[in-house]
Amino acid sequence: MERNILSLLFFVTLFSLFNSYTQSQGTTQSKQSSKFQHEPFANKKCKSCHESGAPCGNDLVSLAPELCLNCHEKYSGMYSHSPSSSGECLFCHNAHESEYDFLLKEDEPDICYACHEQIKEKMNDDQNSTHTPAVDNCTICHTPHVSDTSSKLLKKNVKSLCTECHFEEDITLPIDLDRVIHKHRPVESETSCLHCHAPHATFFDSHLLAEPLDLCLHCHDKEVTAYDGATLVNMKEILKNNTIHHGPIKEKNCSGCHSPHGSDFYRILLAEYPKDFYTDTFDKNAYNLCFNCHESAVLQERETTTLTNFRDGKRNLHYLHINKSEKGRTCRACHEIHASNQFNHIRESVPYGKIKWPLKLQYEAQFADVDNGIPCNMPNASCVKSGGSCVACHNTKFYEIFQK
Ligand code: HEC
Ligand code: HEC
Ligand code: HEC
Ligand code: HEC
Ligand code: HEC
Ligand code: HEC
Ligand code: HEC
Ligand code: HEC
Ligand code: HEC
Ligand code: HEC
Ligand code: HEC
Ligand code: HEC
Repeated sequence: MERNILSLLFFVTLFSLFNSYTQSQGTTQSKQSSKFQHEPFANKKCKSCHESGAPCGNDLVSLAPELCLNCHEKYSGMYSHSPSSSGECLFCHNAHESEYDFLLKEDEPDICYACHEQIKEKMNDDQNSTHTPAVDNCTICHTPHVSDTSSKLLKKNVKSLCTECHFEEDITLPIDLDRVIHKHRPVESETSCLHCHAPHATFFDSHLLAEPLDLCLHCHDKEVTAYDGATLVNMKEILKNNTIHHGPIKEKNCSGCHSPHGSDFYRILLAEYPKDFYTDTFDKNAYNLCFNCHESAVLQERETTTLTNFRDGKRNLHYLHINKSEKGRTCRACHEIHASNQFNHIRESVPYGKIKWPLKLQYEAQFADVDNGIPCNMPNASCVKSGGSCVACHNTKFYEIFQK
C-alpha cells in the first residue's frame, strides 16, 4: 500500500518535472520571455488556470471573466465599461505575458482605438491640435473597467481631474481656482472645464470647443444672476442690437478683458476697473484694464494735442471729467464697453440716481472737411471728426478738437 502511494508520488513528480521542462522549452521557442509576466504564469502555477497536466487553450478551469475572478476582485461601480462588464477581459489582456504594462494586448492608445474609431479620427486629424496627455495615454483620465464618478468613465470629477495637472504641476492655468475671489459659475459646475474645453483634440486654440466669443455667447444669450445678486445683461442681444463692436470683440476675444476661469477683480476682469459710476479718489491704476491696450497718460495730462481727441483744443476733457478727488467720472459715464450704435462707443443714456433712471446723453458727433474746416456729415477720407456735444449731467456742452 505504502509502496503504491510512493510510486504514485514518483510519477506525479516526474510528470510535473517533465511538464515544466516542456513549458520552458515552449516559452523559449515561441519568443523571448516578454517584458511583463502574469504572476501565476511566471511562478508556473499553470494549474490555477489549466485543468490538465499539459496546458492548452481547451482545458481552462473556467472561462473569463470567472477565471480571472478566482483571484481578482469583481469590478463594481455605478458606471461600467461594456467590454469589461460583459467579461471580455481577454480582448484587452493576455493571460500569460505581454510586451506592455498591465498585460495589455496592445499598448494605449491602440488598444482603445480598436473600438473607439471616432476618437482616433479626431486625434489624427491634421487640422486639430491634440491635448498632450491623450496622445499616448487614455487611462490617465479614464478607467478601463468601472467608474463611480461619471458615465464617461472618468477617474475623478472633471475639475479635480483637470486641475491635478493644470494647477499642481503648474502647467499654464494662471490662477488658483480655489482661492480666486470671483468665481465663474461654469467652472464650479459639474461639467466644469468641459463647458469650454475639449479633452482630446480640437480645431480651436487652447483646446477650446469653439471661438471664445461663440462659447461665451452660448450661455450669455440670456440674463443671468451674478454672485453678487446683480442681473447680468443678455450679451448676445447687446451685440446684435449694437452694431459697432469694441476692438477685442470684433476679434471674438472676450478673454482680452475677462478671465474665463475667475478672477480677483470685479466681473472676472483681467485687471482693475472701478465698479462704481463715480470715484472719490483718483488712481490711474484703477483703470489698468483699459490701459492694457490704451494709453494711460491720457488721464494725467491736463493739456494735450496728441493723447486724445476728447479735448477742446488743448484742454483734455478725459482728464477734466475723470481725474478728480471727488465725483470723478469713470469710463462707463460716457462709454459702452462692449458695443454701441454711436461713434467712439459713446453710450445713449446713463443710469441716474437711485432708481437708475436712464438719463439721455444725447451725444452728437461733429465732422468737418479736412481742408477747409467746413462742417460735413458723411465721415470719410476728407470728412473727419471735429468735435461733438453732450446734453447729459449738464446742458449742451461742445468741444472742438482742432482749434487755431
Ligand atoms: C491566469 C490564468 C492562466 C495561467 C496561470 C496560465 N494560463 Fe495558459 N492560458 C490561459 C488562458 C485564458 C488561455 C487561453 C488563451 C486565449 O484564449 O487567449 C491559455 C492558453 C494556454 C495555451 C494554449 C494557447 C497558447 O497560448 O499557446 C498554452 C499552451 C498555455 N496556456 C500554457 C500555459 C502554461 C504552460 C502555463 C504555466 C506556465 C499557463 N498556461 C498558465 C490562462 C492561464
Ligand atoms: C491564480 C490567480 C490569478 C488568476 C486566475 C488571474 N490572475 Fe491576474 N494576477 C494575479 C496576481 C497574483 C497578480 C499580481 C498581483 C496583483 O497585481 O494583484 C495579477 C496581476 C494581474 C494584472 C496586472 C499586471 C500588471 O502588470 O500589474 C492583470 C492585468 C491581470 N492580473 C489580469 C488577469 C486576467 C485578465 C485574468 C483572467 C484571464 C487573471 N488576471 C487571472 C493572479 C491571478
Ligand atoms: C477595454 C480594455 C480592458 C478590458 C475589457 C479589461 N481591462 Fe483590465 N485593464 C485595462 C487597462 C488599460 C489597464 C491598465 C490601466 C488602468 O488600470 O488604469 C487594466 C488593468 C487591469 C488590472 C490591474 C489594475 C487593477 O485594476 O487592479 C487588472 C487586475 C485587470 N485589468 C483585470 C481585468 C479583468 C479581470 C477584466 C475582465 C473583467 C479586465 N481587466 C477587462 C484594460 C481592460
Ligand atoms: C472591445 C471594444 C472596446 C475597447 C477595446 C474599448 N472600448 Fe470603450 N467602450 C466600448 C463600448 C461598446 C462602449 C459603450 C458604448 C457607448 O455607450 O457608446 C464604450 C464606452 C467607453 C466610454 C464611455 C463613452 C460614453 O459615451 O459613454 C469611454 C470613456 C471609453 N469607452 C473609453 C475607453 C478606453 C479609454 C479604452 C482603452 C483603455 C476603451 N474604451 C477600449 C468598447 C470598447
Ligand atoms: C485629459 C483627460 C483625458 C484623456 C487623456 C482622454 N480622455 Fe477621453 N474623455 C475625457 C473627458 C473629460 C471626457 C468627457 C467628455 C464630455 O463629456 O464632453 C472624455 C470622453 C471620452 C469618450 C466618450 C465620447 C466622447 O467623445 O465624449 C471616449 C470614447 C473617450 N473619451 C475615449 C478616450 C480615448 C480612446 C483616449 C485615449 C486616446 C482618451 N479618451 C483620453 C478625458 C480624457
Ligand atoms: C496628466 C496631466 C494632464 C491632465 C489630467 C490634463 N491636462 Fe491639459 N495639458 C497637459 C499638458 C502636458 C499640456 C501641454 C502643455 C503645454 O504644451 O504647455 C496640456 C494642455 C492643455 C491646454 C492647452 C494649454 C495651452 O497653453 O494652450 C488646455 C486648455 C488643457 N490642457 C485643458 C485641460 C482640461 C480641460 C483637462 C481635463 C479634461 C486637462 N487639461 C487635463 C496635461 C494634462
Ligand atoms: C467659460 C469657459 C471656460 C471654462 C469653464 C474653462 N476654461 Fe480654460 N480657457 C477658456 C478660454 C476662453 C481660454 C483661452 C483664453 C485665455 O487664455 O484666457 C482658456 C485657457 C485655458 C488654459 C490655457 C491658459 C493659458 O494661459 O494659456 C488652460 C490650461 C485652461 N484653460 C484650463 C482649464 C481648466 C483646467 C478648466 C476647468 C477647471 C477650464 N480651463 C475651464 C475658457 C474656459
Ligand atoms: C474691452 C474689455 C472687455 C471685453 C473685450 C469684454 N468685456 Fe465684458 N465687461 C467688461 C467690463 C469693464 C465690464 C464691467 C462693466 C460695468 O460694470 O460697467 C464687463 C461686464 C460684462 C458682463 C456683466 C454685464 C452686466 O450686466 O453687468 C458680462 C456678462 C460680460 N462682460 C460678458 C462679456 C462677453 C461675453 C464678452 C465677449 C463677447 C465680453 N464681455 C468682452 C469688459 C470687457
Ligand atoms: C456654461 C455657461 C457659461 C459660459 C460658457 C460662460 N459663462 Fe459667463 N457666466 C455664466 C453664469 C451662469 C454666470 C453668473 C454667475 C457668475 O457670476 O459666475 C456668468 C457670469 C459671467 C460674468 C460676470 C461675473 C460676475 O459675477 O462678476 C462675466 C463677466 C462672464 N460670465 C463672462 C463670460 C465670458 C467672457 C465667457 C466666455 C469665455 C463666459 N462668460 C462663458 C455662465 C457661462
Ligand atoms: C484687449 C485690448 C483692449 C482693451 C483691454 C480695451 N480696449 Fe478699447 N479698443 C481696443 C481696440 C483694438 C480699439 C480700436 C478698435 C478699432 O479701431 O476698431 C479700441 C477702441 C476703443 C474705443 C473707441 C475709439 C474710437 O476711436 O472709436 C473706446 C472708447 C475704447 N476702446 C474704450 C475702452 C475702455 C473704456 C476700456 C476699458 C474698460 C478699453 N477700451 C479696453 C482694444 C482694447
Ligand atoms: C465724459 C465722457 C467720457 C468719459 C468719462 C470717458 N471718455 Fe473716452 N471719449 C469720450 C469722447 C466724447 C470721445 C471721442 C473723442 C472724439 O474723437 O471726438 C472719447 C474717446 C475715447 C477713446 C478714443 C481715443 C481718444 O482718446 O480720442 C478712448 C480709447 C477712450 N475714450 C477711452 C476712455 C477711457 C479708458 C475712459 C476711462 C478711463 C474714458 N474714455 C472715459 C468721452 C469720455
Ligand atoms: C456724469 C456726468 C457727466 C457726463 C455723462 C458728461 N459730462 Fe461733461 N461735464 C460734467 C461736469 C460736472 C462738468 C463740469 C466740470 C467738472 O466739474 O468736472 C463737465 C464739463 C464738460 C465740458 C467742459 C465745459 C466747460 O466748463 O468748459 C465739456 C466740453 C463737456 N463736459 C462735454 C461732455 C461731453 C461731450 C459729454 C458726452 C460724451 C459729457 N460731457 C458727458 C459732467 C458730465
